[in-house]
Amino acid sequence: MLSALYASLFYAATAVLVGGVAWRVIEYARAPAPLRIPTTPAPMTRAGAAGRVAREVVLFESLYRSNKWIWLFGWMFHVALALVLVRHLRYFIEPVWGWVAFAQPFGIYAGFALVAGLAGLWARRFLVERIRYISTWSDHLMLALLAGIALTGLGMKYVAHTDIIGLKEFMLGLMRFDWQPLPADPLLLVHLSLVLVLMVVFPVSKLLHAPGVFFSPSRNQPDDSRERRHLAAWARD
Ligand code: HEM
Repeated sequence: MLSALYASLFYAATAVLVGGVAWRVIEYARAPAPLRIPTTPAPMTRAGAAGRVAREVVLFESLYRSNKWIWLFGWMFHVALALVLVRHLRYFIEPVWGWVAFAQPFGIYAGFALVAGLAGLWARRFLVERIRYISTWSDHLMLALLAGIALTGLGMKYVAHTDIIGLKEFMLGLMRFDWQPLPADPLLLVHLSLVLVLMVVFPVSKLLHAPGVFFSPSRNQPDDSRERRHLAAWARD
């Protein structure tokens, strides 16, 4: 019963996540960019602009320039999240790829870095007056959701272990449409429930900045308005 419930919820949440993000990305891709508005100084070639977006994605370059504290916590959180997700890949693949196995110990430390990064980002929403003023319920809720997922994850690692083999069979079963029982440990059920909430709210949340950064005209446009005439698609004919 429990397994069937979670299995159906995971299918539904995956559909919402994949469909929702695809829909938002199509919206972003279709949004007209009527003007050349790169933040200067900007690269003058397309390759240069692509490099700039890549540096933004990997290093959070513009955030580094604007605020070192937010950069430190934000970058730490995102790198840790990437490592944690790589570590999680082992629940979804069999056999486990070499580099995923190699990343396992780093993923554990990353769990702590992830919580530390979130704590720093959250503290600033209370401690910095002007950030507190612009913070909304949804800002706090996203931080709470991520912190809840991370803390229940660490809880499974250090406080009350779950049946990892059983969980992996459940996840592989979901992907192969060959349903298997889900271990009914409370921490695991809370961890997975919060993940389901995250998957469903993702397409309507601020977390869309992840795909959105690639569509930001102020970052992805080259500064070539003197060399090429820029025409928005709708203005061509
Ligand atoms: C369906 C998706 C997920 C499953 C099946 C899952 C399952 C698990 C399990 C079984 C553990 C315990 C690992 C152990 O005891 O060695 C764990 C830990 C953890 N999870 Fe998840 N999780 C999922 C998604 C996520 C997401 C989306 C995040 C982050 C936003 C996350 C963050 C963590 C963290 C920080 C830990 C502790 C560090 C670690 O052991 O990697 N999990 N997860």
